[in-house]
Amino acid sequence: MLKIPTLNTERLVLKGVTMEDVPSYSGYFVDYDVIRFLSAEVPWPYPENGVRDYIEHVLLPQQGKDRWAWGIFLKEQPDQLIGCIDLWREGKPEHRGFWLAKPFWGRGIMTEANFPVIDVAFNELGFERLVFANALGNIASRRIKEKTGCELIGLKATAFVDPLLKESEIWELSKENWLRFKNR
Ligand SMILES: CC(C)(COP(=O)(O)OP(=O)(O)OC[C@H]1O[C@@H](n2cnc3c(N)ncnc32)[C@H](O)[C@@H]1OP(=O)(O)O)[C@@H](O)C(=O)NCCC(=O)NCCS
Repeated sequence: MLKIPTLNTERLVLKGVTMEDVPSYSGYFVDYDVIRFLSAEVPWPYPENGVRDYIEHVLLPQQGKDRWAWGIFLKEQPDQLIGCIDLWREGKPEHRGFWLAKPFWGRGIMTEANFPVIDVAFNELGFERLVFANALGNIASRRIKEKTGCELIGLKATAFVDPLLKESEIWELSKENWLRFKNR
């Protein structure tokens, strides 16, 4: 059984990514404006069939074991994956990544998606502390940390797909601070 819970928010359903999502995932993810902010481990130009290979050979073998990758779906458009948010056990130092298709930016979707995922991390997956990261200059990603009670703990030299980005902001969120933030 796949151990990844389906999560509902006001506008969204978050479901474990499957091979059925390859077409919509590829259609939205392979966009330099999305990928430029990701780690330089992500190839650019993006290879043909890269999303299929990644989901089949990297993501699904880890899914629900040491990694939890949710596809983001609008309730009004439930068959089309428009983004992804994933958690992994081993910090790199960060434990989370996310991306959203460009046509859906700026509507609060990723902020909304993050709340139930952080709840699952602390309440079901046993994390006591989460570390997050974003490229210095990735204002939208930074705001999401600020709007979910995270604390900025430092900067780290990091290579991104966009060679002009050279540093990450590193953030921390403890379970205790999350509960305090949610009940504020
Ligand atoms: C980062 C990303 C997921 C944000 O998703 P989103 O759903 O548009 O974010 P939200 O709408 O929840 O916005 C979060 C905050 O950022 C702000 N914001 C969004 N886009 C912005 C932009 N281009 N410039 C400045 N602020 C921005 C929003 O106004 C909001 O802050 P506010 O509530 O104070 O107004 C999306 O831009 C994306 O996929 N970017 C490319 C991939 C990426 O950067 N992934 C993260 C790597 S760490």
